[in-house]
Parts: sequence; structure tokens; C-alpha cells
Amino acid sequence: MDILLGLQWGDEGKGKIVDVLTPDYDIIARFQGGPNAGHSLEFNKIKHVLHSIPSGIFHKDKINIIGNGVVIDPIIFKSEIDTIKKLNLDIDLGNLLISKRAHLILPTHRILDAASEASKGHTKIGSTLKGIGPTYMDKTGRNGLRVGDILRPDFLDKYNFLTNKHLEMLKSFKFDFDLAEFEKGWFEGIESIKTFKLVDSEIVINDYLNENKTIIAEGAQGTMLDIDFGSYPYVTSSNTVCAGACAGLGVAPNKVNEVFGIFKAYCTRVGSGPFPTELTDETGEKLRDLGHEFGATTGRARRCGWLDLPELKYAIMLNGVTQLIMTKADVLSGFDTIKVCTAYKIGNQTYKTIPYDLDVEDLQPEYAELKGWKTDICNMTKISELPKELIDFINFIEKEIDIPIKVVSVGPDRNQTIVKG
Ligand code: GDP
Ligand code: IMO
Ligand code: MG
Repeated sequence: MDILLGLQWGDEGKGKIVDVLTPDYDIIARFQGGPNAGHSLEFNKIKHVLHSIPSGIFHKDKINIIGNGVVIDPIIFKSEIDTIKKLNLDIDLGNLLISKRAHLILPTHRILDAASEASKGHTKIGSTLKGIGPTYMDKTGRNGLRVGDILRPDFLDKYNFLTNKHLEMLKSFKFDFDLAEFEKGWFEGIESIKTFKLVDSEIVINDYLNENKTIIAEGAQGTMLDIDFGSYPYVTSSNTVCAGACAGLGVAPNKVNEVFGIFKAYCTRVGSGPFPTELTDETGEKLRDLGHEFGATTGRARRCGWLDLPELKYAIMLNGVTQLIMTKADVLSGFDTIKVCTAYKIGNQTYKTIPYDLDVEDLQPEYAELKGWKTDICNMTKISELPKELIDFINFIEKEIDIPIKVVSVGPDRNQTIVKG
């Protein structure tokens, strides 16, 4: 099994690259997160945004699996399915399998997420408000409802029990909500889920591996949003790192081959929390404008900053990355100078990796300055066509982190992808 995951704060371009790599695989499987993810991919001039469904779905003959580590909101799932059906594309939704062990996001999980965030004021996480935190809390607290429970005769009792528990919890928040508004759509979503193959995905996947079928595991979010290693508490509630793929699909670590680490040629973050190289000036605005840096799930403006090598090195270490994929190099075209953070200074101390506490006021990034390029690279298809300054930028990163950059993405479309070899 190969794994593709984000090395920054999410939105690195995972959806696009999984779609590009899908022809090389038999199975594409999401292993964690839920509809907090927004994975965009583009072909034939149409952009698609997926939240719960793996990014291999537009390839007819491929098996797409929503693994046990994922959390599913039936409302959002159904609307994604309806959107795809309306496109009338030649794809086979019968090849989408859902793990019975995946947990369900209840309407009250979403309400609890919103109530919790509202109560935190300026210390809020900046959650996508999809109910992710409360659902994983119920999973680890051993209270959750799973996809497999839908098939049980006592499903409604289980739903009512958990919902009532949440309603009690909501009394401690001063928060207005309308449960009925969500419930109808939620149960319609449950009916939609029932029409798919609900499977023991860990067995299906291991059987496929034994038949020498190829699998790519698709990460959601990014390493700096990992529950253990991200900038806690400003993180999501799952393990976004490589180990999360083993737990989130039921695949043993010795079955993992390549780990594709994907990063943007600069950094973005949406939501609260520390961001060492953030640019709050017009350069940051320029990156946001040129890169269309607005959330695929929430539409929020993404915070932008320069590439951060201490952060990238930390992510590469945690994930055992074997190959790097760099996206959005085209967004840097036109800058006179491109900066790359090589270390942080906190007081008199220099850090080449992520310190325990990133949220300190006197953190100063140290930058290397590289010459920019003016050429538009969006239509380039070969490494040899790229401007010298971009090659220098790539060489600089490879030298600093000692892992090859195998793919350079120069635009959102499938075809705007250069394999460096
Ligand atoms: P994901 O969550 O990692 O799948 O990434 P998102 O889809 O949330 O955000 C990435 C955005 O950048 C999307 O709008 C993509 O269409 C777009 N994108 C992906 N790769 C490139 C690229 O190389 N250049 C440009 N300009 N846009 C890209
Ligand atoms: P993809 O898969 C970027 C961020 C939220 C917030 C924090 C916690 O598209 O890269 P949550 O809703 O999980 O409780 O929010 O994590 N976040 C993401 N940021 N891309 C994502 O997914 C994200 N999913 C969650 O903005 O800061
Ligand atoms: Mg995204």
C-alpha cells in the first residue's frame, strides 16, 4: 500500500494529485477525517470538490473505499452523491465501498461543535463546524454510532440514546439550535448510505493486498493538524500522519511501500493557531489572490506565508516520506524574491525543527532569499521547460531536506502536472 498525505496545514492539493495517480492503482481509500476535508480536482475544465468520497471516484474501474478511520455525515455524504449523479459522468458508484466501522456524525455532534466553538470566544479552534471533534470524542469515549449499526434493528434506539445524551450536554451551553432542521436530512442520508456496499473494509483491503492489487491511501488535513503532532489544541481530532493510515484502514505497517508527502511551494492555514511564516502584509494577500486561497469546505480566506522547512522536515520525519510532491509552484511566478524559512529563532536559541510550543510571541523565522521568475509556467509539461530560478528553488529544497521532489504541479487541472522522475 502507498500513502499520500499532506505535510502542512491541509489543502496542499491532495485531491488533485490522488486523481492524477489513480490510474496507477486498483483501490483508493480514505483513512481518516471526514467532511472537514475539501479535496478539489479538475478535468475537462470542471472543478469537483469532494468531502467524504475518495478522490479516485471519477475513474470508472477503480474501487473507492471510505475506511474505518473516517467519520461520515449522512447529510453531506448524500449531497455529494447527488451532485456526482447529476453530472451524468461515466462512473460506477457501485464501486464505492463504506466501512461498517466508520463512525457517524450525528446532527447533535454538529451542534455540539458549534456550541463549543461559540463558548471559546477568541480561543476558538476555527473548526469547520462539521462535528468532527465531538464525533471522534464519542468514538474514543466508546459511545459512538457506526455505519454497521444502521443495519441493526435497535439503530433508532441507539440514535435516540446518544442524541438525548448530547441534548443534556447542550444544556450547559447557552446556544440556540434547531435539531429538527437537521434530522430529516440525516435520516434521508442514512437511507442513501444503505444503498452502498457496507463492508468489513479491513478484510476487503487485506484480501486485495494478498491478490497483489495496488492501493493508495488518501490522507485528509495535514501533518500540522494531527491530533498528536500538530499545533495542539489548534488541530483536528484524528491522526493525519502515516500511522493513521494503518489504523484507519486496518493495514499493517510492513505493508506500506511509498509515502508521498505533498506540500505547497508556500504555506497556508485556515482556522486559528500558530503559523510561523505567516505574512499579514500585501505579499500574503498577493499569495492568497494568485493562489485563490479560499477554503474548499467553508469558503474562509486561508492565511498565507512562505515555505517553512523546519515544519516540512518535522512532517517528513513523522511520516517516513519517500517522495515529495510540490504543488502550486505556478502561484509563485511573478515574485521578484521568494523566501524560504530555514530555521526559527526563539530568544537566543535556533530551532531547525518544530519546538513544543510554537505559539510564542518572540518566534522569528530565519529566511533564505531566492530569486523569483517571471515566466508563466502553467502550460509547461517538462522539467526542462521550467525557468532556471524554479529549478534552483527545487534544488535548494531537495538539498535542505534530502528527499527528491518527484512531481511538480503547475495548475489545478489533471494535465498541469510535471513528473520529474
Ligand atoms: P486538498 O484539500 O489537499 O485536496 O486541497 P484543496 O482542494 O483544498 O486546495 C487546493 C487548491 O489548489 C484547489 O483549489 C486546487 O484546485 C488547487 N490546486 C491544486 N494544485 C494546484 C497547482 O499546482 N496550482 C494551482 N494554481 N492550483 C492548484
Ligand atoms: P483538507 O483535507 C485545511 C482545520 C480547521 C481548523 C482545524 C480543526 O481539505 O486538507 P475540524 O473541523 O477538523 O475540527 O477543524 O483544522 N481543518 C482543515 N484545514 N484543510 C482541511 O482538510 C481541514 N480540515 C480541518 O480549519 O483549523
Ligand atoms: Mg482542502
